[in-house]
Order: sequence, then C-alpha cells, then structure tokens
Amino acid sequence: MAILETPLQIGSARIRNRLYRAPVLEGAGSLPDAAKQYARQFVANARAGVGLIVQGNSCIYEEGRTSPGMTLVNTRERVLRLGEMVDAVHAEGGAVFLQIGHGGLYAMEAWHHPYAEERKGPLLAPSKLPLALRPAFLRAPVHPMTTDEVYAMATRFGEVSAWAREAGYDGVQLASGNAKLIHQFLTPFYNRRTDEFGGSVENRGRVLRVIREAIAEHAGEDYACTVKIPVDEKSPPLTPRISFDDGMELCRLAQEWGYHAVTPVRLSVLPDTTLTKGDIPASLWRNPTMKRRLREAAPSRVQWAVLMAGYVVGSVRNPFRPVWNRDVFTEAKRRLSIPVFAVGGIRTADEVNGILEGGEADMVGIGRPFYAEADLAARILGGSPEPRRCLNSNFCVPAEMLGMKGTCYNPKVKKTTGASS
Ligand SMILES: Cc1cc2nc3c(=O)[nH]c(=O)nc-3n(C[C@H](O)[C@H](O)[C@H](O)COP(=O)(O)O)c2cc1C
Repeated sequence: MAILETPLQIGSARIRNRLYRAPVLEGAGSLPDAAKQYARQFVANARAGVGLIVQGNSCIYEEGRTSPGMTLVNTRERVLRLGEMVDAVHAEGGAVFLQIGHGGLYAMEAWHHPYAEERKGPLLAPSKLPLALRPAFLRAPVHPMTTDEVYAMATRFGEVSAWAREAGYDGVQLASGNAKLIHQFLTPFYNRRTDEFGGSVENRGRVLRVIREAIAEHAGEDYACTVKIPVDEKSPPLTPRISFDDGMELCRLAQEWGYHAVTPVRLSVLPDTTLTKGDIPASLWRNPTMKRRLREAAPSRVQWAVLMAGYVVGSVRNPFRPVWNRDVFTEAKRRLSIPVFAVGGIRTADEVNGILEGGEADMVGIGRPFYAEADLAARILGGSPEPRRCLNSNFCVPAEMLGMKGTCYNPKVKKTTGASS
C-alpha cells in the first residue's frame, strides 16, 4: 500500500491518510453562520478523501485579528459553535485541526482604516518596533508585552485548546509563522527582549514552551498539538533573522518540549508573499470589489502605496517554484522523530508520493489549490496526472486581508464545487 494511504497517529489524533489541506483563511468570520461557512468548503474536501484539514488562523483575543473575516475563538461559546462543522467533517472520515494565533503588530487595526479608528488598545508586540518600521506605524501605538502578559497569553492558548477539544477538533496548530505575534517572538528581527523570552534561540523559542505547557495543562498532554516553525527567514539587509540552523534548532526544541508535529517553512519577517510565492496579485486592480475594499481599508495614498509595494515587490522576489520548502522539511525529518509536515508549492500526485516514499516528510499539505478544487484530494489519492487548476496567480491573497471569502478569484480558473460535482 502506498504510504499516502496509510494512517498516522499525531498525539490523540488518528489521521486516515497523509494528505492535508494547509491552512488558507476561509473568511468565515465570527457570526453564528461561521460553522456553515466552514462546512461548505471542508465537508466537500473530506468527502473527496482528504486526511486532515488545518482550519485557517483563528484569533485568541478580540483585538488580534489580521483581517475582518478572521474567526475569533476568544470565548468557549464561539469555539463550541464551530463543533457542528467538525462533526460534519468527521462524518466524512476527515479530521480537523484548529490553527490559533494572534496578529500582534499586524493586527488589522495597524493597517485597516475603519478598524484603526475604533481600536481601543495598542498593538501587542514582543518589543518596541524596529526603527525601519516606525514610519509605517505612526497611527498605531505598540505595546511590548510584559513577562506576565506572555504567561497570560499562554494560558489563553491553553484555554482555547481545551474548548477546541470540547468542540470535537482533533488537535490544534499554532499560527507561529507568517509574521504573526508568535513568529514575532521567535525572530530576532522583532524580539529584543531582555527577560526569559529574549536573547538566545532557546529563549526566543521559550514562548512555544510555555504555550505547550499551558495546552497540556488545559487540554490534556495527549491532545494533538502542532506548530509551524520559521526557517531561513528573509529580512531586510543587515537585520537579524532566523537562519536555517536556528530554524532547525527551534524544530528540535519543539520536539523536546512535547509538540506532536512540526511544519517547518521558509518565511519573511514581513507579511508579504514569501509564504505563498507566485505571481503579483493582479486581482488588486482587476477585481472591482478588491479594488474598492483596498481603497476603503487604506484611504491615504501613502498607506495604499506601502501595501501595493509589499504585494508587488514580495511577488517579484518570490516567483513560484515547485516544492520550494523541500530542503527545509527534509532536513527537519532527518533530525526529528516526531512527524514533519511538508507544505509549499506541492501540486501533483507524483510530488506528494515522492515526498512520502522518499521519507522526506510524514504529511503533505496543499494550500491554494483547495480554493479551486474542492475535490482535489480524490485526484491526488487516485494518482491523477492532471495538472492543478490553481495558477499560483495569488489572486486569492488580498481577499483574506480585505475580509472577503476565501476562494479562487482568478477568472481563468474553472472551479469545482464539491466531490460529487
Ligand atoms: C489566502 C491565503 C491564506 C493563508 N492563510 C494561512 C493561515 O491562516 N495560516 C497559515 O499558517 N498559513 C496560511 N497560508 C499559507 C498556506 O498555508 C501555505 O503555506 C501557502 O499557501 C503555500 O502552500 P501552497 O503553495 O500549496 O498554496 C495562507 C495562504 C494563502 C494563499
């Protein structure tokens, strides 16, 4: 039997096969219909055979969302309401992990005009802003978290994980990449702390340790607890960053501290398209709704230009490359005994099987193509040689920031709607 079809145990979770839907924001929000919105995508994915769905980043605090469509999981009631979707995915044989995090400096109030006006408190951060970023944060005060606040945040991660377990989720993943708050703690680009959470790689990584301890205490030691680890970061010239070796050390520490699996990924210290790679998201000027929403979100010319430049420069510097994290996950797999998740530019059944049969990773994730092909899992599991419908145009990327539904926005892509379609 191909490894792809074999089950995998991750902490308390048994996953029926090795294919997962990587977290790509769904824009489901936090209204009472959120579970239905998630179910609309996830049930079709599970029916087509996907082993695991990692739900996109959901926020542990009211004021940490990076976009208006991001789901809040800051109360037990909100998390339990999502249980209806989890049950529906289970009925199709799939498993779901809840990804949990906080935007930190990139909470939407830092850039999204209507929300910036309403924000009550400052943006949470590990330290004062790096000098180079200060001109972009003039209207948003920043609060370097105290040591006690870091421990309180870890407790909240623990509570949310306990609620997730109660709601039926099979596990959690920390949203610890993509320049969000935990990533900001991990990288020396943002973290200049002098307490036990700053300094060496181990000290910067300690935030993962206290969160892991809180999750074990609140949700149970065995509850599947997984983490994304930034490796070989891109940062502006002459600024500190997580190197390849630092990233591998963080992976080792995550294993030592009891995480059940890691997803090592190449990232930038800025929230640009390094994490997705692909084309310039031309939807920003071709899609009238996105164009209008961007104007509303960033009404000043300077703000608009900074965001546009981020998208354009990020994409020019990061053209699509198939399986671009291969050396990163292969090396983590070589060094660790816990499961390693692969993600980044993986598209074909041959690539998926090659990674698994070569012993390069234990789970293989695909992100954007799920927006275009709800039944993608059936094609990968069936070994279909058909190319993916996703064109890596990144038309979907601005939608998540602008609070729109997570789906494929490229008019040239013919979407499938479900396993039975
Ligand atoms: C619109 C969009 C939203 C994303 N949201 C998340 C997220 O919430 N959490 C996360 O860890 N990664 C997120 N990612 C990154 C994906 O999980 C994945 O790593 C990336 O898209 C590369 O994989 P792919 O080439 O298969 O799309 C997002 C990517 C896109 C395009």
